[in-house]
Amino acid sequence: MIRDPESFTLLLDTLQRFVREKLIPREAEVTETDEIPADVLTAMRGLGLFGLTIPEEYGGLGLTTEEEVLTSMAVCYASPVFRSRFGTNTGIGSQGIVIDGTPEQKKKYLPRLAAGEITGSFALTEPEAGSDAGSLRTTAKRDGDHYILNGSKRYITNAPEADIFTVMARTDLNSKDAKGVSAFIVERNTPGLTVGPYDRKMGQRGSHTADVIFDDVRVPASSVIGGKEGQGFKTAMKVLDKARLNIAAVCTGAAERLLDEALNYARERRQFGKPIAEFQLIQAMLADSKAEVYAARSMVLEAARRKDAGVNITMEASCAKLFAAEMVGRVADRAVQIHGGAGYMQASAVERLYRDVRLFRLYEGTSQIQQLVIARHLLKDG
Ligand code: CAA
Repeated sequence: MIRDPESFTLLLDTLQRFVREKLIPREAEVTETDEIPADVLTAMRGLGLFGLTIPEEYGGLGLTTEEEVLTSMAVCYASPVFRSRFGTNTGIGSQGIVIDGTPEQKKKYLPRLAAGEITGSFALTEPEAGSDAGSLRTTAKRDGDHYILNGSKRYITNAPEADIFTVMARTDLNSKDAKGVSAFIVERNTPGLTVGPYDRKMGQRGSHTADVIFDDVRVPASSVIGGKEGQGFKTAMKVLDKARLNIAAVCTGAAERLLDEALNYARERRQFGKPIAEFQLIQAMLADSKAEVYAARSMVLEAARRKDAGVNITMEASCAKLFAAEMVGRVADRAVQIHGGAGYMQASAVERLYRDVRLFRLYEGTSQIQQLVIARHLLKDG
């Protein structure tokens, strides 16, 4: 649903200009320094990017799902690490509070998340609990009006930058599955919480992940999201439903960029006396990529519209994430192929994007987890 087409078009135009004029020219610098420059962060805050999905009453833009995915596609025409910096505020690091938080929790955190004054982060994955998220081992033991958290989380996006974490921890210490899990808001400066060094990754330089360690971290009982124990896994899954659809949009934006890079190169590069774009074997790679990008875009928009209409889209979000994450891998591979040797060189945007997009088949649920979710829904619905 687009609420006001005229002002939304203005927003998209502004974002597209920002991507072209301010983000793409800084990509190489971000890769080189592994940091997003301070002036770019300030500009992203100024555009309201940290609060895109946070309700207007808390200072965000309150975008609908359709508006959100369209903005993600636009922003991810530039390196996906720019979106990753604010993506935990608009996605997994705020949505637990938006969807299930108490009025007090919303009032306390959402305005500062929306303004980009603080950074949110989502701490579900652990060294021994990746795809089997329900088996997590971090504990939260009740102690009067407090809980005491112990355990460790792994590969947590924006942990080095984060001011608050949504932490899934086991409050029913006798349980082993998803039922005994609660979600907490834990502030960064709480004694006993430490963040490890940056992980050294295959790609996505400029977007940081790290371990988060909890050693007798004491938090007030009021930090349980929604104020109710045992709901944390469901909160995490609801957050991921929305996040997976958004990652599909991220993949689509990145694929559109890769296709344009390939197209431009094919038009300019001459071999056998003419531009390689005139060879049908190159055209086939371009055409296959376009068809797949269009399919992903259509899936994402259709699922987003269904969500805005109030339909449960758990299965559709997994379909879109599965298809789009695999699709962008194929498009990146063809873009490198069309560039030939130039595509293997670090000076080339497609070399960097090829490594960056590999992550999308892994995080927020691997492709295999999406297959599992889809199959479970198919079998249940039958
Ligand atoms: N919405 C609401 N509730 C949901 C739900 C959803 N989408 N999915 C499951 N639930 C509920 C179920 O109904 C069930 O509730 P009841 O007990 O009341 O019936 C409960 O949650 C447990 O569900 P399951 O029995 O299906 O749980 P499971 O243990 O079999 O796990 C899974 C399901 C789909 C495999 C899940 O563990 C999963 O998604 N795993 C992948 C984890 C993942 O995506 N990790 C990514 C980490 S975040 C990340 O990558 C972010 C980053 O850094 C950028």
